[in-house]
Amino acid sequence: MPGDKSISHRYAMLSALAEGKSEIHFFSPSADCASTVACLQSLGVRIERKDNALTVHGTGLRGLRPPGKTLDAGNSGSTMRMLAGILAGQPFKSVIAGDASLSRRPMQRIIDPLTQMGARIRSADGGRPPLVIEGGPLKPIRYEMPVASAQVKSAVLLAGLFAEGETEVVEPAVTRDHTEIALEQMGVEIGRHRRTISLRGPARLQAKTWHVPGDVSSAAFFLAAALIVPDSNLVVQNVGLNPTRTALLDLLIPMGARIKVLNVEMLNGELIGDLHVESSTLEGGEIPPESIPALIDELPVLAVLGTQSKRGLTFGHAAELRVKESDRLAAMAENLRRMGAEVEELPDGLRVAGQQVLRGAEIDPHGDHRIAMAFAVAGLVAEGTTVIRDSACAAISFPGFFEALNQVVD
Ligand code: S3P
Repeated sequence: MPGDKSISHRYAMLSALAEGKSEIHFFSPSADCASTVACLQSLGVRIERKDNALTVHGTGLRGLRPPGKTLDAGNSGSTMRMLAGILAGQPFKSVIAGDASLSRRPMQRIIDPLTQMGARIRSADGGRPPLVIEGGPLKPIRYEMPVASAQVKSAVLLAGLFAEGETEVVEPAVTRDHTEIALEQMGVEIGRHRRTISLRGPARLQAKTWHVPGDVSSAAFFLAAALIVPDSNLVVQNVGLNPTRTALLDLLIPMGARIKVLNVEMLNGELIGDLHVESSTLEGGEIPPESIPALIDELPVLAVLGTQSKRGLTFGHAAELRVKESDRLAAMAENLRRMGAEVEELPDGLRVAGQQVLRGAEIDPHGDHRIAMAFAVAGLVAEGTTVIRDSACAAISFPGFFEALNQVVD
C-alpha cells in the first residue's frame, strides 16, 4: 500500500516546524500530500524528495516565510484545514485556495476556533475557500468541537503550538490521533483525558526519522475486493493499525469477515501489521452511529460490500459524507443504481439491500478518488464490464491503484 495519507500530511507539516533535519520514509505518493509539500515549500521550507523519501529541513517554530503567492491545497481538505492552524500563528498574511471540489467544502469549522485564538480569517461566502489568514500572536483556548473531525482537532492543536499557555480541544467522538502521536514522538507533552486533548505552547519540536505505515484506508479497497470475489486469499503487508483507524475491521470481523491481523509492531508510536483476508460470507446489518466518525473514509466501499452481504447494510449519522471530496451519499446512491442495485438515500446515510447481482455500468465518480476505487471493487463482482469515467482521480490518494488491483486479480 502507499504510505498513509493522513500520517504523511502530519509528518511533513510537523517536520517543517521542527528544529533540524527530518527524514520521512514511505511518504504517501498521493496528489494530496504533494499539495502539502508544495505549500510548505512556498512557505520557505527546504524539502528534497527522492521517490517516496522526503528530507525536510525544519525551520523551527518561528522560521516560516511569507509565501509570495497563493498557497494551493488542490483537492486536499487536510492540507487546507491543518495548514490553516499553522498559518494562524504566523506574523504574516497568507492566502490558501483549492480546486473546485475543495472550494465547496466547509471551512467555518476551523475559522471559528482559529479566530477565537486571535487570527483574522476571511473566506468566500458560507465559510468556503479561499481563505485569507492574517496570523499573529495567538492565545490558548478550550475548544469544544461541534463536529467530530481530526482535521479540526489538528488545526487547533497546531495553532496551540504557537500560543502562550495551554490549548485544549474536546472531541464529541474519538477521531484519528496521528497528530497527538507524532507530537509526542517529537518531544511535545500531550494531555489526554477522555476526549480532551491538550498541549502547552510555545512548543519545541525535535526533528525525527519517520517511517509511514501503509494506508489502511487504501487497504480497505483490497480487503473489500478479497472478501467478495470468490476464492480470494490475499495478504496486505505493513498496514497502519492505529485503533482510531481500524473500525472497519471491528465492524467486519463480527459480521463474518475472515480477516487475520499478523506481525503487529510499533513504529514511531503507530501500530503496523499485515492483514490476511479470505473470501467470506458477510452478514450485513446496521452500522452503529458511534462507529461512524472512525469509519468515515471507508463508508463508500462498505456500501459496495453491503450489496453482497446477506442482510444488506444500513447507516445514518453520516451527513459529513455530503461535504467530502464529493457528496458521497449521492454519488454512491447514483452509481449503485447505475449497476442495478437497490439503494435508498437517506438524509444522513444509505440503506443498501443485500444479495444483489450487480450489472457492469458506466460510473461517474464525480472526481472523487474513494468513489472511483469503491466502484472498481464493485466492478470485480458485477456481470459485464464496468467503465469508470475520469478514473485518474484515484491518484488523489492512491496513484497506481488500478495497476495494484490488476496485480491481485486473475
Ligand atoms: C482526515 C480526517 C477525516 C478524513 C480525511 C482525513 C485527517 O476528515 O475524512 O480523509 O487526515 O485528519 P475529518 O477530519 O473532516 O473528519
